[in-house]
Amino acid sequence: MNNLLRLLSDGCFHSGEELGAVLGVSRSAVWKHLQRLEGECDIELFRVPGRGYRLAEPISLLSYEESSVVLARFGWQLYLRETVDSTNAEAFRLLQSGTAAPFVILAEGQTAGRGRRGRLWASPPAQNIYYTLVLKVSDGPQGLSGLSLVVGLAVLQALRRAGVRNAGLKWPNDIYADGKKIAGILLELTGDPADVCHVIIGIGINVNMAASAVEIDQPWTTVRAQIGALANRSELANFVSESLHLYISRHAEHGFSALRDEWEANNLWQGKLCTLSTGSQQVKGLMIGVNELGALRLLVEGQEEQHFSGGELSLRLDHDS
Ligand code: ATP
Ligand code: BTN
Repeated sequence: MNNLLRLLSDGCFHSGEELGAVLGVSRSAVWKHLQRLEGECDIELFRVPGRGYRLAEPISLLSYEESSVVLARFGWQLYLRETVDSTNAEAFRLLQSGTAAPFVILAEGQTAGRGRRGRLWASPPAQNIYYTLVLKVSDGPQGLSGLSLVVGLAVLQALRRAGVRNAGLKWPNDIYADGKKIAGILLELTGDPADVCHVIIGIGINVNMAASAVEIDQPWTTVRAQIGALANRSELANFVSESLHLYISRHAEHGFSALRDEWEANNLWQGKLCTLSTGSQQVKGLMIGVNELGALRLLVEGQEEQHFSGGELSLRLDHDS
């Protein structure tokens, strides 16, 4: 299926004969494959008698060859999937079946991409990046303090390298451009924290997505919208790998405190009035930054400084800020 999409990805006309010859199938089989592709991948296809088939517009596909070369430099194994439920769920399965970390899972599409707190992450095929890196945690979970913020910083720098301007960070690890969400990160821990455990670092980046079949209940943007051109997904995935390697190595060597200033310099809401939802209560305060472990520092009413950390927290900007 992907071979067919790859042939058509340039957006030019390809005759049924040509597609059939390359794939080793009949012209009628090509037609059936194309119909399936349209349904499964939600792509628009034109069929013009005498000229053949073409996609409504070019698309950018991932490349095993290009990504595995970069990952090999870091000793990270690549698993490239066409479709999975979730690259994070696939990571859990690979670990359970004895796959040794470090490894990366990339997928063209996800059928049940997950966001924080069990929410759904819109993951249409062949349009965005769904990336999971799995690392073994050797010095206990305390060494992970601030890691999720550092991953946000790494993804932000990869986006800048791809030409995205006006992007910044929202605590703890969301990336926004022009006030709209462009990327999200989901860190999960598995195993016994006192013994062998792994951190599963899931990254979703909106790259070329034009619309989503799944409702997205917040403003969102894409790399394509930000740079004004179709983005090369394979290249961006490589930028993410290189940036992650650099930032995670710095974090492992020096801890979050060495990256705290850089994180704060990219914090979109630094010095702004925010409200933090903790599940049971709402805390209003001025965001003064993060501490040496990556916890949120809020100056709450009465000028008292309070620190917050944990996966269930959600920060919102106050409109009068
Ligand atoms: P916070 O967790 O701080 O409240 P958030 O509002 O972004 O931030 P998350 O749980 O991190 O919430 O992310 C899930 C949200 O992201 C859901 O509201 C969902 O509608 C939205 N969402 C789903 N897919 C995408 C996507 N591809 N791009 C942007 N947002 C998305
Ligand atoms: C968020 O809610 O902001 C986090 C979104 C994380 C989405 C990515 S896509 C790759 C990985 N696999 C998943 O199922 N989720 C993460």
